[in-house]
Amino acid sequence: MSDEVTLAPYTDESGNRIEFTGAPSNNIKFRFRGSNNVARVHADARASNLRIDFNGSNGTFVLGSNHHKRGFSGGVRVGQDAEVIIGNEVSSTSGVVISAVEGVSVTIGDDVMFASRNEVRADDGHPIFDVHTGKRVNTARSVRIGDHCWIGAGAVVLAGVKIGQGSVIGLGSIVTRDVPNNAVAVGSPAKVVRKDIAWERPHLGLTPPFYKPDASTVKQSPYWHLTAADGEIPAPAPAAATEASVRPAPRAARAVSDRARRAARRGRTVWRRRRSR
Ligand SMILES: CC(C)(COP(=O)(O)OP(=O)(O)OC[C@H]1O[C@@H](n2cnc3c(N)ncnc32)[C@H](O)[C@@H]1OP(=O)(O)O)[C@@H](O)C(=O)NCCC(=O)NCCS
Repeated sequence: MSDEVTLAPYTDESGNRIEFTGAPSNNIKFRFRGSNNVARVHADARASNLRIDFNGSNGTFVLGSNHHKRGFSGGVRVGQDAEVIIGNEVSSTSGVVISAVEGVSVTIGDDVMFASRNEVRADDGHPIFDVHTGKRVNTARSVRIGDHCWIGAGAVVLAGVKIGQGSVIGLGSIVTRDVPNNAVAVGSPAKVVRKDIAWERPHLGLTPPFYKPDASTVKQSPYWHLTAADGEIPAPAPAAATEASVRPAPRAARAVSDRARRAARRGRTVWRRRRSR
């Protein structure tokens, strides 16, 4: 087994290599077993506490560019002939566990937001066999998480799952079946509870305005679509919703956020006035 190597251009006598043209960093560590494994890391990748273990041969790991404060962090296992591809601008609050072995892949799209304690497992780690036939029951299967998905705290995505772009997975969910685009799926096993939704990154507690009652309060990403049936291309959201981002916020919300801003400057909290019934 090779010693741990940190992010910098690298090749060894077994044909393992790191392709990288940016500034060397201790924030990403690699360990190579086997041969002909390749890690391709974007020159603008940002990560904290990210560790990649190549456990077999012919594995591939790709990490896209990233400008988020902490970037991406986690522990990634890349097994024999397996692939883990992490897109651009993928963020995580704490380390994401990712595993792919036996020739399958985990693909994470662009702008995916992991919360904390997430796992994405394309394999179960150990084999289960049918005692009648001796056949393997729990085969490894590829996982694909589409662009701009939000994976809630503690949520886990298991083998064979595809999550369409723009979707949200609820806190603590275990995803065992496909989820369409622009949907909310929750629970264990996760089920779709909402369709035709879009979410945005600005934090409710940290990013003004501190009330966000409609889409006029956020800059809309390009992921506003209707949920499509399996195999169909998602249609854009109706104009009414997307136009909301160029309409001024409703007066009530504006008044609240203006008051909140003024109070914040004075170090006070403003409570929304209750309507009399
Ligand atoms: C997924 C989530 C965003 C959905 O919010 P929402 O669309 O407002 O959903 P609702 O509260 O209307 O719930 C819809 C249904 O799903 C259920 N549900 C919601 N979240 C659930 C969860 N995490 N697990 C199980 N069931 C859940 C509700 O009980 C409700 O069921 P019902 O219709 O039978 O009553 C939210 O529930 C959640 O999980 N929030 C936490 C996100 C997070 O991890 N944040 C960390 C910082 S990134």
